[in-house]
Amino acid sequence: MRFCILMGSPRKNGNTNKILKVFRDELEQKQVQYDLIWLYDKQIEPCIACRSCQTDWSSFGCRFQDDTYDIFNKILACEVIVLATPIYSWYCTPPMKSLLDRLVYGMNKYYGEEKGPALWAGKKMALIASCGYKPEKGADLWEEGMKRYCKHSQLVYAGMLVERDLGYKSTYTFNEKETRAFARRLCS
Ligand SMILES: Cc1cc2nc3c(=O)[nH]c(=O)nc-3n(C[C@H](O)[C@H](O)[C@H](O)COP(=O)(O)O)c2cc1C
Repeated sequence: MRFCILMGSPRKNGNTNKILKVFRDELEQKQVQYDLIWLYDKQIEPCIACRSCQTDWSSFGCRFQDDTYDIFNKILACEVIVLATPIYSWYCTPPMKSLLDRLVYGMNKYYGEEKGPALWAGKKMALIASCGYKPEKGADLWEEGMKRYCKHSQLVYAGMLVERDLGYKSTYTFNEKETRAFARRLCS
């Protein structure tokens, strides 16, 4: 089993990465292999709806030759996709949103003359989030959006681990036991 972790926080020492470090440690203890991609370090152009990705059903086929190609291949090589992001304006951060748009077209060949396949069908998708408001008011819309995204893309939605940030004056804390249990559950 292989994981592909897509990290959407701009902060290398931020809250989301604190959770992710423990999550990764659990994967390592279980000897599960993973790719970790920091999206703010990558060039990910926004989708311009040209639909060049819809002519060839066997590949990504996007006109932009940027880092999204490598991410696309890493996703195809994994069984579990993890989206880790701080919540910005009730959703993910901008590079993750750009990537999700590129993938929803590039992976799902639904938008050409005839309806084609979803190239990533059957993979699991899980979320790790950190937010300032209570999770039910801070991360609820992100989770709902991604549940629908998974259904549309024939992905298996595997749940969200979310922890609240109590503000810049407090130290960020999270439940390490739950984080480890979440990682173990995704491995089964
Ligand atoms: C521009 C911006 C927008 C934010 N929008 C939200 C929001 O809509 N809902 C929320 O609960 N928290 C929001 N937050 C708070 C962050 O999600 C929270 O502080 C998070 O823990 C930051 O994670 P990081 O340290 O990995 O960047 C926002 C923070 C920033 C900087």
